[in-house]
Amino acid sequence: MKKTVSFLVSGRGSNFHAVAKAIMKGTIPAKMGVVISDTEGVRALDIAQELSIPSFFINPKQYKSRQEHEKAMVQLLGEYNTDVVVTAGYMRLLTPYFVHEFKNKIINIHPALLPAFPGTHAQRQALEYGVKISGCTTHFIDEGTDSGPIILQKAVPVYDDDTEDTLSARILKEEHQLLIESVRLFCKDKIVIKGRKVYIVR
Ligand code: GAR
Repeated sequence: MKKTVSFLVSGRGSNFHAVAKAIMKGTIPAKMGVVISDTEGVRALDIAQELSIPSFFINPKQYKSRQEHEKAMVQLLGEYNTDVVVTAGYMRLLTPYFVHEFKNKIINIHPALLPAFPGTHAQRQALEYGVKISGCTTHFIDEGTDSGPIILQKAVPVYDDDTEDTLSARILKEEHQLLIESVRLFCKDKIVIKGRKVYIVR
């Protein structure tokens, strides 16, 4: 049975776009679910519309609490029979309630080699720290910030003349490949989680 993949997004949506194209081409054996944005009018929603993927803006400001907002998202994800949620540039922390609803079924892409530089502006943090290598990480979301079991990582060099933009662009190219591969492995049941370790079944 093919799994159904849904997305949480907040902005540009290039990671969502890359994975959606891979699903549509059959590179990832999965069905498309729904795209939910916490921000109105973003490029990710336009891309979903262009690809005829159901998409919704769920306004966090319309809810009393973060959990109420997440309840609305969980309901919508359920209506689209979601098996796995991909947070693709979703800039809001998920509460333990949401994490529990999709335990070990939320895949996040982060633009640094975790556990280095969690949180926002990871590329800027890496530059300011002066690391010579950075990269990207896919991981399952747990109750912490970018702290869940790591699925895959890819390193890229950091150059002396890098700016946040040049480093981000170098990392982003790898993010797309890493996220596609991670979702593909998950959808093919090739991922086993033991404690905080992820094993890839070859
Ligand atoms: C990506 O670089 C992603 O790794 C990052 O936001 C960007 C979204 O781009 N996510 C985080 O920093 C989460 N902490 P996209 O909307 O084009 O995929």
